Amino acid sequence: MNRPKLIAGNWKMNGSLAANEALLSALRAGLPQGAACAVAVAVPAPYLAQVQTLVSGSPIALGAQDVSQHDGGAYTGEVSAAMLRDFGARYVLVGHSERRQYHGESDADVAAKAQKALAAGITPIVCVGETLAEREAGETEHVVRRQLAAVIHANGHCISEIVVAYEPVWAIGTGRTATPEQAQQVHAVLRAQLAAATTHAARVPILYGGSMNAANAAELLAQPDIDGGLVGGASLKAQDFLQIIAAASAAQGDAATVSGVN
Ligand code: PGA
Repeated sequence: MNRPKLIAGNWKMNGSLAANEALLSALRAGLPQGAACAVAVAVPAPYLAQVQTLVSGSPIALGAQDVSQHDGGAYTGEVSAAMLRDFGARYVLVGHSERRQYHGESDADVAAKAQKALAAGITPIVCVGETLAEREAGETEHVVRRQLAAVIHANGHCISEIVVAYEPVWAIGTGRTATPEQAQQVHAVLRAQLAAATTHAARVPILYGGSMNAANAAELLAQPDIDGGLVGGASLKAQDFLQIIAAASAAQGDAATVSGVN
């Protein structure tokens, strides 16, 4: 199946009013006309309003980096799905490894967050991935399946509406990327798990994340089950991010040719 590719930037806790404006104007200026792939940026919550305006009328979709598992009320510091929707967020990251690691988010928390996003009409980008110790112990498949299973269990038939991001924790921000073969192997496991849960598994994009950059994107995106990227560091540099988008658009074109859909 020729799934549309998605390149999502994860700005993490970076940016300023001035830097966001410069980055987005460079991206808007550099985006190829009729880019074949979808593009999104997941920005820090205080900048949602600013970036909503900056991307308006462009093909860049707005995303957030986290969402509360509660609807509202006495949850100091949290941001609800309805609030994200108020600012036009199309996507929200849930279960990023930095949230799991530094904020103790459990699989159940992540599943509840995905549920709140879906209920608000926002696509959750569900992040899964093993640590280096888990990989070395041969637990990669078990860990990612467990993480995804919680989300599948909580979300029933809506599961075909999510995006999955496989991000090996040891590859995030380290400059150490999974090889295309290593990534594809895990993506195939996740695809099979989705296929057991929904007849629409083929349309769920599975992104790769972890030190994706302009030099390695094309090779990763050529894999049959790698449908795009969740890009951290390289999404903060307009030229790097644009090159990754170009690689995804080229891969999209190739996939269309192979499947005879033009
Ligand atoms: P990185 O981050 O591209 O800087 O490795 C990816 C992510 O954490 O989403």
